[in-house]
Amino acid sequence: MDILQRALSCPKAELHLHIEGSLEPELAFALAQRNRIDFPFASVEALRAAYDFSNLQSFLDLYYACADVLRSEEDFHDLMLAYLRRAAADGVSHAEIMFDPQTHTARGIAMGTVIKGLCAGIDAARAESGISATLILSFLRHLSEEEAFATLREAEPYLQHVAAFGLDSSEMGHPPSKFERVFAACRALGKPVVAHAGEEGPPAYIYEALDLLKVSRIDHGVRCTEDAALVARLAQEQMPLTVCPLSNVRLCVFKEMRQHSLPAMLAADLCVTINSDDPAYFGGYLGNNIRAVQEAFNFDAATWARIFRNSFQASFISAADKAAWC
Ligand code: HPA
Ligand code: ZN
Repeated sequence: MDILQRALSCPKAELHLHIEGSLEPELAFALAQRNRIDFPFASVEALRAAYDFSNLQSFLDLYYACADVLRSEEDFHDLMLAYLRRAAADGVSHAEIMFDPQTHTARGIAMGTVIKGLCAGIDAARAESGISATLILSFLRHLSEEEAFATLREAEPYLQHVAAFGLDSSEMGHPPSKFERVFAACRALGKPVVAHAGEEGPPAYIYEALDLLKVSRIDHGVRCTEDAALVARLAQEQMPLTVCPLSNVRLCVFKEMRQHSLPAMLAADLCVTINSDDPAYFGGYLGNNIRAVQEAFNFDAATWARIFRNSFQASFISAADKAAWC
């Protein structure tokens, strides 16, 4: 078996995946029809043609608009099951999945509808293939601290279904420091926290995520390479970075895959993982990310083994389960 085939079939964890970003156009149209919603695109092809992004915000505008088709517990179940089936086919044995409750509660969808539907999808997928998955409740950073606290209160009855908390959406102008108190409250619940930082934002945002939010992982973090002292610290702490290569190219963080900072990050001994972010919008699931990276960089088998070992080490599974996978 060649290196690519081995990488594709190797057991791995996916740690940076937005469930709303796995909404394929075909499912979006089916849900729009089921929920009798006037969807503002003429066809699946017309929707796909709109996937031409110039930066993070241009993507987020479409991503939030499409999420409007998600209305019922069944919709969230179907979305989750569809993603986990694709992930299992790419060798993913465990996934830690972000969801954006504020995208739904702002439209009048109850927190319980979202979480119960997603959990039902996780249960169905586990029964089918044995894949395990947990949820990361992510706050939208373009909204206020007060709204984040209100969301945390709404989630209180469902916290047994929340493995960790995250921070996503428009990065520039919304530094991690805005959510220092929210994240302190999340950590006080005994849950780990993660945050998007250094995707479009500067290295200073990565420092804030580490020092103020006290994150267990940095989502993206690719701009860390602009600051040698930061790279040295991330390496020394073996702080996991959930890198999403196709996402970074589609959102113009890097012009093309060959310019990605991934090889520099690996050379600096960083704890790198590879993930798909919003696979319906960015050209594919974890397998497609692995293919695109291998085409650009031709990694050896040991590098892929290291990346997948990192994915389990950086996950929130138990130490016993880590020992079994690593
Ligand atoms: N960055 C920030 N917020 C997001 C992303 C992302 O890549 N995907 C979904 N929400
Ligand atoms: Zn993301």
